[in-house]
Amino acid sequence: MGGLNSAAAAKIKEICARYKNENTPLMMILSDIQNEYGYIPLEVQELVSKETGISVAEIYGVVTFYSFFSLTPKGKYVIGCCLGTACYVKGAQNVIDKFSEELKIQPGETTDDGMFTLDALRCIGACGIAPAVSINGKVYPKMDAAQVPGVINDLCLEYKEKEGQNA
Ligand code: FES
Repeated sequence: MGGLNSAAAAKIKEICARYKNENTPLMMILSDIQNEYGYIPLEVQELVSKETGISVAEIYGVVTFYSFFSLTPKGKYVIGCCLGTACYVKGAQNVIDKFSEELKIQPGETTDDGMFTLDALRCIGACGIAPAVSINGKVYPKMDAAQVPGVINDLCLEYKEKEGQNA
């Protein structure tokens, strides 16, 4: 968000106002902000606190508890490797290690070019096709470390194609 400009502040105030009649508006407000901006930095939490009267401590607690919320910008592609039991026993650690090696980032980090974020997830409900990887919501079944470079390559190509279409 690069400093909270007046347009962003106005938008956040508007999101807070949307739920002013709800008993427990915090999750809805934070979800809308996450969807709008992709992350919820501290300065935004402070503004939400001012608008709603909910303490920054409580807001911070929610943002950091739910993995859906993020304090920092996420990459264009968010690669979530499941490390739940079913995936783990089928070699999920090798898969996430390979993503980590190829992208030169650790789980929880984003590449410098803003393309990829790598996340370690708990069971994503796809145990039958373990090890499972979810990339921007699309589930890749029975992943193998050897497939990782190809998947990254395909995503880069897909992104370039999209960029070309928007140019
Ligand atoms: S443990 Fe990975 S999908 Fe369930």
